[in-house]
Amino acid sequence: MWLQDQHAFELLRDFIWEKSGLYFESTKRQYFWRRVQNRMRLLDCFDGKEYYRILRSDTSETELRELLNVLTTTETYFFRNEPQLRAFQEEILPEMLRRKRAQGDCYLRFWSAGCSSGEEPYTLGMILREHLPQIEQWNITVVGTDINTRMVQKAQEGVYHVRSLRETPDRYRAKYFTVEGDQYRLHDVIKKMVTFRVGNLMHAEDASLMHNVDCIFCRNVLIYFNVESCQKVITMFYETMATQGYLLLGHSESLYRISAIFKLMKLKHSLVYYKE
Ligand SMILES: C[S@@+](CC[C@H](N)C(=O)[O-])C[C@H]1O[C@@H](n2cnc3c(N)ncnc32)[C@H](O)[C@@H]1O
Repeated sequence: MWLQDQHAFELLRDFIWEKSGLYFESTKRQYFWRRVQNRMRLLDCFDGKEYYRILRSDTSETELRELLNVLTTTETYFFRNEPQLRAFQEEILPEMLRRKRAQGDCYLRFWSAGCSSGEEPYTLGMILREHLPQIEQWNITVVGTDINTRMVQKAQEGVYHVRSLRETPDRYRAKYFTVEGDQYRLHDVIKKMVTFRVGNLMHAEDASLMHNVDCIFCRNVLIYFNVESCQKVITMFYETMATQGYLLLGHSESLYRISAIFKLMKLKHSLVYYKE
């Protein structure tokens, strides 16, 4: 028989929040328990408070990592949010290149924060390869980070189900993927452009590896955080970003009532945030 009362839910929910920024409202209680139970069963543990004690006392955080792997929502696909990508391609990137050329700066740094299985940073890689004239003259860094260890591993493999390519234009499919049965293998020319790391947006030490970033994609991540966690992440992004850098959030996300640190810019195809 499962022992999982409101108190156990709150203990576990707050622990997860403190560790990852993810916040589960009471309305998500069932979703939360279903996933927690799957982990508890593997440990032969049927008491929520006992599981909480196991998590707390595990200094290696192995069980926490496994739990986060099942609690995170990892839905993603290539070329997600086309209008925003058009804004990146037609407005942000050209502005960035003009400015950098004038400054004699050949470094371009991009960060996909909460990259899941890699479709987002790889999309960025493909766009850069297609739209950056004389790409070899630039020193480009594209980093993808995620708290979910399984997703980071999948990203590094670069092999995808057709579902991940549902919004991928035909010419990109043909040029950058090889079909292997019902899977699509991304070509090395794009794979090599992106470095993946397991990273927690709530950990200052993980973020400290990033600096002078020109553009941060953090899309469909903050919707799972509460205001306090969002504020912490946004401040960290601001500190990590180069001046005149851009922050791109998911289409349903905004910094309204969260932070005024970035300037909201209305581009032709999308709203973006900007560090002045
Ligand atoms: C819905 S996916 C978004 C993927 C991609 N950015 C997109 O828009 O398609 C959200 C991702 O955020 C990651 N995530 C959640 N909390 C995180 C944290 N504290 N640090 C890093 N990544 C986190 C999840 O593991 C998940 O892969």
